Amino acid sequence: MSTTPDDDATTGLPARGVFVSFEGGDGSGKSTQSRLLGEWLEQAFGREVVRTREPGGTQLGRTMRELVLHGEDVDPRTEVLLYLTDRAHHVASLVRPALERGAVVITDRYLDSSLAYQAGGRELDLARLRDMQLWAVDGLLPDVTILLDLDPALLPQRLSATGLAPDRLERSGEQFHRRTREAYLALAAAEPERWRVLDASAGIEEIAEQVRAAVAPLLDRARARAAGAAGDPVDGAGGGTGGEPGAAPRPGGRLDASTVAP
Ligand SMILES: Nc1ncnc2c1ncn2[C@@H]1O[C@H](COP(=O)(O)OP(=O)(O)O)[C@@H](O)[C@H]1O
Ligand SMILES: [Mg+2]
Repeated sequence: MSTTPDDDATTGLPARGVFVSFEGGDGSGKSTQSRLLGEWLEQAFGREVVRTREPGGTQLGRTMRELVLHGEDVDPRTEVLLYLTDRAHHVASLVRPALERGAVVITDRYLDSSLAYQAGGRELDLARLRDMQLWAVDGLLPDVTILLDLDPALLPQRLSATGLAPDRLERSGEQFHRRTREAYLALAAAEPERWRVLDASAGIEEIAEQVRAAVAPLLDRARARAAGAAGDPVDGAGGGTGGEPGAAPRPGGRLDASTVAP
């Protein structure tokens, strides 16, 4: 494998890894589903899985997470820059190296959180915010972004189930959460090839199955790309029929999920 990322023209992704982000409001099930997805990928495929989160995926990020979520109130521009600093460092020091190794990276929140919360919730300019985000991450977008879409009316019972004190975002009020939800849905509608919108009020296992169906085809694609780059056949790591041995990479291709199901 080359140490230089073999960029996919459509996504800017390195050739080998798979990058999955979970988005949605607090209490929508991101932590639950990212854990279940990670366990499935490790058990069924033996893949290296890196589960991480924003803010707080690095030491610098954990310090900033404390500042942003539990510190003094900051104005919206400062808040944008704090999240952006965390994200730039997170991508450069953790996400990109893992993708270059061929890992599956699952992040609980990524740049779309900033677009939904800071542009949607706090009404800053979306186009400018998007440019800033893309600059900070040097263009790295997820292979798939899973939106766990939850009616804010269902939020109180979810949050009380966690038994945790609400943090600053959770206390922001129902209007804020409604605007954020609308912003997420608009982002997903604008880029349907990257997003999967799932009904987060469904059962945990039902959602997990939909998440697996969204991610499985990407594993096949990444394997095909990796095999094409290395010149060796795709092995049947999933124990199944394993796609087409030695198949040429198909950037942006969507293979049948059943070919990788365990
Ligand atoms: N589909 C679901 N149905 C009912 N409860 C859920 C579901 N998904 C998660 N939960 C519960 O809701 C709470 C919040 O879930 P969590 O995964 O922590 O959400 P997030 O990480 O998005 O804040 C937890 O107590 C979790 O067990
Ligand atoms: Mg969580």
